[in-house]
Amino acid sequence: MTTIPRGSSAATGSGEPFPDGFLWGVAASSYQIEGAVAEDGRGPSIWDTFSHTPGAVAGGDTGDVACDHYHRWPEDLDLMAELGVMSYRFSVAWPRVMPDGRGVNQAGLDFYRRLVDGLLDRGIRPLMTLYHWDLPQSLDVGDAGGWLSREVPDRFVDFALVLGKELGDRVPAITTLNEPWCSAYLGYASGEHAPGRTESSLAYRAAHHLNLAHGRAVSALRGVLPQGADLSVSLNLHQVQAASDRPEDRAAAEHVDLIANRVFLDPMFGDGYSAELRAGTAGLTDWSFVHAGDEAEIAVALDSVGVNFYNPSRVRAAGGEPGRPFPGTDRACFVDIPGPHTVMGWPIVPSALTDLLLRVQRDVGLPIEVTENGLGARDVVESGAVHDPDRIDYLRRHLAAVLEARRRGAEVRGYHVWTLLDNFEWAWGYDKRFGLVHVDFADQRRTPKDSALWYADVIRRNAL
Ligand code: FCB
Repeated sequence: MTTIPRGSSAATGSGEPFPDGFLWGVAASSYQIEGAVAEDGRGPSIWDTFSHTPGAVAGGDTGDVACDHYHRWPEDLDLMAELGVMSYRFSVAWPRVMPDGRGVNQAGLDFYRRLVDGLLDRGIRPLMTLYHWDLPQSLDVGDAGGWLSREVPDRFVDFALVLGKELGDRVPAITTLNEPWCSAYLGYASGEHAPGRTESSLAYRAAHHLNLAHGRAVSALRGVLPQGADLSVSLNLHQVQAASDRPEDRAAAEHVDLIANRVFLDPMFGDGYSAELRAGTAGLTDWSFVHAGDEAEIAVALDSVGVNFYNPSRVRAAGGEPGRPFPGTDRACFVDIPGPHTVMGWPIVPSALTDLLLRVQRDVGLPIEVTENGLGARDVVESGAVHDPDRIDYLRRHLAAVLEARRRGAEVRGYHVWTLLDNFEWAWGYDKRFGLVHVDFADQRRTPKDSALWYADVIRRNAL
């Protein structure tokens, strides 16, 4: 077992306290860490298929083994406990529990029961994500399969109900979808994610079916979960900036806010897709896949909202010089934000997290948990240690941004670092590392990085 030295952190900071009861967490997802893709009856997911498609993932990497967390989970939970982590956001591999999207695989369910009990034994709150992108492959057949199909929301309700009935007595917090924007727009418009489709119009149909799956699952879960269960969704809202004050760039930023943010916020927290969204996407989709009554089904009451944040996005009107198009539209292109970037090429702008949290507080008005935030780097082990000052700096500044949002009225009650372990980073494979703990993928050795020690110290002091 890896042991974290106590009190050895180089923590410095303003000493600014977080409120009592603030939930310090880490987040992860099934396909990125579990491995054991063909064990104990697990069926294939769209990410197994996608990662085995030549050219889809950097280096030809797959999640076949990943961090072998399926076998090493007790050690990984011990690591969390040693850090003092209070909340673990994990996801359930749908095809482990329902190998072909229908019918229950008891062995798969038992894994999550052991995991949840292991968390509770260590005093860690399980925050269970139902869908972090690993759709059973058998639900993605043909051109209209996957999230293009109106049947998939019903299968998602079946899946949610199995987990609610079997684990709802011991899982106090459930978040339905992780970043439905990625599922819809990277999965169906840009093709960077599974199932790798590349037609802008498809993203809107997928987004609607994800919204419907969310709303229906929440309603179904209310019927089986104990009173007090906390239901949420985890969104990666885009903190969008216009590249200039030119009217066309400002219009592009508003367009992106509609198609990337309000396409989820309006139906989930308001009363349906807005007239502006429908007008703004007129050339892209006719919204005929929205049936009477769907919007009412999506607008369910939630208990909290999860915010995932890494960086803001700056956009300009498309046309003129070529640029990277914003997924799902031909009207906006990304523009780089000057200043420091991570190795992912993502700009580091902590104040954008404050702005985003304040916007969510204003638009949604529910308690907020930051369900993901972290920095990807190419960390290396040197004499048994991993020095990652950039990650510490990134986390410290984003936590300061959380405090600032709280001071200005955002009810942020928890924060989860993405992530505990270096893992399979989707289309980037294993090259970019986000963990507080380094993983040697040759022998699965775990080495806590300096940031892990720093985070443990922040948690212990409940202060920056
Ligand atoms: C988010 C994903 C998460 C991880 C981080 C870096 O978009 O939810 O699985 O890949 O990015």
